[in-house]
Amino acid sequence: MRFDEATSRRLAATYTTPDIVAQRAAIRAALHLLAGERVLDIGSGPGYLAREMAELVGPGGTVHGVDISEHMLAIARTTGPAPAGTSAPVEFSAGEANTLPFPDGSFDVVTVTQVYEYVAEVAAALTEARRVLRPGGRLLVLDTDWDSIVWRSGDPDRMRRVLTAWDQHLADPYLPRRLTGLLTEAGFETTHRSVLPLLNAGYRADTYSAGLIGFISAFVPGRDGLTAADVTAWADDLVTLGEDYFFSLNRYLFVATAQGN
Ligand SMILES: C[S@@+](CC[C@H](N)C(=O)[O-])C[C@H]1O[C@@H](n2cnc3c(N)ncnc32)[C@H](O)[C@@H]1O
Repeated sequence: MRFDEATSRRLAATYTTPDIVAQRAAIRAALHLLAGERVLDIGSGPGYLAREMAELVGPGGTVHGVDISEHMLAIARTTGPAPAGTSAPVEFSAGEANTLPFPDGSFDVVTVTQVYEYVAEVAAALTEARRVLRPGGRLLVLDTDWDSIVWRSGDPDRMRRVLTAWDQHLADPYLPRRLTGLLTEAGFETTHRSVLPLLNAGYRADTYSAGLIGFISAFVPGRDGLTAADVTAWADDLVTLGEDYFFSLNRYLFVATAQGN
């Protein structure tokens, strides 16, 4: 999936829903950031997490966000900085997960949330994250396993076809289940694993899954024989389920420590 202007704006809106605000709170809790730490956020997207981490490391720390999408970087740069003196400086710049523009050992903490599942060469990207961390530094990775989805539909067969086509928006829609081994191979020791479930019961516009309907509606027409009319019917069915609407999806959070060279 390309993070063009329309997709980037839709994503930024989704990331202000209570579901994703709560997810970022869980990420921050798992990180245990300390004042003065140097943090890199790979695939920083709309930049909300980067700005929240800047508050936690304070004026003595630094936060960099890198992203391959110029549209995402433009949105991240417009989200306002915290009042002077309470937050670390935050810088957003172009950068690719496999070729990070930083010297070895530049950071105490690297975060990569909802990004590695888009990256074809994850093993190389993890090695690159290890390179820019100091020994003992922490890496936090969060990704979705799309096999965990439960989504009620009036037409279960059509739902299966839509979700199979949607899986194509990622390089690996099931990455979390093989992440522990990949982390070990890249020179990390995994210290924490947890599951962050998303649950939307009853249809509400201000939820993660309501936003997801829009992403899927833009992506799947023309794939696996699905027409625009099929996808409109799929979306209409969900929205009209009202209180019978039911959506659940698991995201998996890993924290790992960079081992010495
Ligand atoms: C689903 S968004 C997640 C944004 C943010 N990390 C968050 O969780 O709030 C995925 C982001 O990763 C970026 N991205 C995808 N592939 C990338 C890569 N190979 N290197 C750097 N950024 C990448 C996209 O441009 C997009 O901004």
